[in-house]
Amino acid sequence: MDRLERIKEFCRLSDDEIDILSGEIRPAPEVAEHLIENVVGYFSIPMGIATNFCIDGIDMMIPMAVEETSIIAAASSTAKWVRKDGSIRTYIKGNLIIGQIQLPQVQNVARAKQIIHENRDLLMTLANTYVPGLVARGGGIRDLVIRELPRPYHDGTMLVIHILCDPCDAMGANLINQVCEAIKPKIEELTSEKVGLCILSNLVDGKLAGAEVVIRNIDPLVGKGIEEAALFAKADPYRAATHNKGVLNGIDPILLATGNDWRAVEAGIHAYAAKSGKYQPVTDWKMEGGDLVGRIEIPMAVGIAGGVTKLHPLAKVALKILGVNRAEELGRICAAVGLVQNLGALKALATVGIVKGHMQLHAANLAIAAGAEGSEIAEVRERLTEILHREKNISLTRAKEILEAIRVAPDSRTLLS
Ligand code: MEV
Repeated sequence: MDRLERIKEFCRLSDDEIDILSGEIRPAPEVAEHLIENVVGYFSIPMGIATNFCIDGIDMMIPMAVEETSIIAAASSTAKWVRKDGSIRTYIKGNLIIGQIQLPQVQNVARAKQIIHENRDLLMTLANTYVPGLVARGGGIRDLVIRELPRPYHDGTMLVIHILCDPCDAMGANLINQVCEAIKPKIEELTSEKVGLCILSNLVDGKLAGAEVVIRNIDPLVGKGIEEAALFAKADPYRAATHNKGVLNGIDPILLATGNDWRAVEAGIHAYAAKSGKYQPVTDWKMEGGDLVGRIEIPMAVGIAGGVTKLHPLAKVALKILGVNRAEELGRICAAVGLVQNLGALKALATVGIVKGHMQLHAANLAIAAGAEGSEIAEVRERLTEILHREKNISLTRAKEILEAIRVAPDSRTLLS
């Protein structure tokens, strides 16, 4: 059975949805016009499916839109390992996004804080009047918190009001921005202080998604190697950045495929990684008895309602493939896949190294970049793979040499190898 047939059967997709997935039906130009400005076309990124995932006991296919070689292969093979020898469990902590209303240079801090505090209920009620649809769906403003910040150059005090909002299944950026701007005049009127910026915060630490992966009875050498790799990331921000990039390799492609704002999620995850004052890895791996246990807990402001998720036909199909009905389910899947992706990278790094698997898959890219066409691509890739095995190194120059030789003398194998 071919790939699309299998997805169709497993995810119960319609013929139209399969045509959207395969590119047979392309998004109408008007869709792009609704999304951005000065549209000239679409930029296509390959969409693949990571397989073998069993998350919280449910088998699922993971749609990933990504340009980097080997991410989907690594996710699928690591998920296969986890499926055979372990498990993935996920959870969610909170569903509150944050809107910030800044009072940049407050004249009378104590008085302003007291007035906002006394009018907390009034302000929350007013705020909720601007999101009636959200309130009707069971969401809305849940709390209001005042934070006092010294100005960086010691010229006074800044107050920041956090409006905490349950966005239900939306990411909620537009909702919360509107609320903050709408209640700004009331805050100025009540406090006689000037309001500065009104904008959401991407550090959504009131909305966390977590996952735990266990590999039972792991080969102690591999387990120790992965534990040691996690320690390296804890000790060194230079390594932590790359470690976290490996986690995001698993998360960003799902966000892209489902039409979510990956820049927002990335910003939140990096800020959360630095919450102790030192940039840290967002995952941890430890040997517990004979088992390897990995954990992740990250801010995850994702949506499945509104915005691109509903406008872009591919995003709708991707959500159907995932089978999610709630935004929190999408957040939990992202955390799980990020953790599994990280496990795959650390296992490779701690054992055979990353080059072997990555470059082997990258050989086709090099062939195309060298100018190979049609059947030449497979031939150049094959010869590059042989060279990689022998010399542990391939490059674009090498790919160009091979292509040239093939074109000059199609049976140039012996010449180059
Ligand atoms: C490459 O895209 C990602 C890795 O560098 C992640 C890591 O080093 O952990 C392999």
